Amino acid sequence: MTRQIHLGLFMQGTGNHVAGWRLPGAHASFQDIDVCVSLARTAERGKFDILFAGDGYGVRAGSHPSQAARLQPLPMFSALAMVTKHIGLGATASTTYNDPYTVARGYATLDHISKGRAAWNAVTTAQPEAGLVFGRQHPNHAERYEVANEFIAVVKQLWDCWEDDAIPADRDSGVYIEWDKIHAIDHKGKFFNVQGALNLGRSPQGHPVILQAGGSEAGQTLAAATADVVFAVVQDFDESRESYKALKQRVVAAGRDPDAVCSMPGVMPIVAETDAAARQQLNMLQNFVDDSVSIKMLASRVGINVTRDDLDKPLSIDFEIPGSSHGFSRTLRNKAMRDGMTVRELYNLVAAARGHLVICGSPKTIADEFEKWFTGRACDGFIVLPAYFPGAFDDFVDMVVPELQRRGLYRHDYTGVTLRDHLGLPRPDGPYTAKTGR
Ligand SMILES: Cc1cc2nc3c(=O)[nH]c(=O)nc-3n(C[C@H](O)[C@H](O)[C@H](O)COP(=O)(O)O)c2cc1C
Repeated sequence: MTRQIHLGLFMQGTGNHVAGWRLPGAHASFQDIDVCVSLARTAERGKFDILFAGDGYGVRAGSHPSQAARLQPLPMFSALAMVTKHIGLGATASTTYNDPYTVARGYATLDHISKGRAAWNAVTTAQPEAGLVFGRQHPNHAERYEVANEFIAVVKQLWDCWEDDAIPADRDSGVYIEWDKIHAIDHKGKFFNVQGALNLGRSPQGHPVILQAGGSEAGQTLAAATADVVFAVVQDFDESRESYKALKQRVVAAGRDPDAVCSMPGVMPIVAETDAAARQQLNMLQNFVDDSVSIKMLASRVGINVTRDDLDKPLSIDFEIPGSSHGFSRTLRNKAMRDGMTVRELYNLVAAARGHLVICGSPKTIADEFEKWFTGRACDGFIVLPAYFPGAFDDFVDMVVPELQRRGLYRHDYTGVTLRDHLGLPRPDGPYTAKTGR
């Protein structure tokens, strides 16, 4: 089958640009389910593979509005499952602040509700404040990943407890469940002890799709071993080709098929009829940015602490990679060094798309870039971050999607049923299916 671009929508009701909600007519809420429904419907109109919603814990003054006030992803996606038919539903849940049984059950439930469209973005949670709301010490980076490895392994075992045909519900014989087709797990690990089975039959996808977004060494190793989709943070084509190649090599080293892992970097497309009009739109959005918010974002994303007075000073690139998120800080630091940026330039970059790549231009310009990155093997698709909703997303779906379709790079319609079908990923056999040949 011809390789085609995969697209995901990064849902942020107030827009992915930190000041997107300030544009007249833009949605200004991520806690209004009607806003979420409208985003989902537009994404499905654009034949997107997946919707994605992030998550965290607690509130930090000055954070992005859609990260401060948002619906919890799993229940939000349960609602969206009922008003969509095709699109994948990617909900974030932390491996540091959950337990495997609850997560396995919750995502298997979403997979049943949506008839095979659930995905779990397994994050380790970078922000130390998260520990406070749970009354726990936030573990360090290495421990968070050690926990995540065990956590995901347990979740997968729980998803496999039931053989696919364990519920015959045979009225004639009176057999509802074949109990010998339910296999309790007996996991005694460093962080988790889980004995028993999930109280839910195997889900339509077997395993809901697993997303991973860690850019550190430990994050990439975990992704190569366990993830189906990897979200990347990119700023440079050549650098991305290298990391794409490195990821696929890691996947092979983990004993997996390199095509079974799909790499999708985040991109904010600012699209207008002409390149000049798109540039003007970006400038207008940047003018709405509040200094205090961007300065906080610089600190959390890049690990650089500045005040308003520092903005026009040259950037000292001699800053430490913070222990929170390696992926963002490394990519942004490399970009700043490569381009000899000032503090203000880096600040503007972080303010626009929180560190993700911004591509600005006409539908042709945007499609050219997407084509270059995709055919040049720097990625398998993109997580699209519209600057504001609904306008910027409508523009993308109405202007860029048809251009990608015209070039044969993107589907005209859904051809499968489940999210695994859209992504071209096989449905994993359960271990018992493989053994008995069932
Ligand atoms: C596109 C994208 C989305 C992310 N979404 C979340 C999220 O919703 N919640 C979260 O805690 N971390 C999120 N992260 C952060 C990572 O999952 C990861 O925890 C963080 O980058 C630290 O890992 P690292 O040091 O391996 O990069 C996201 C990262 C990327 C690139």
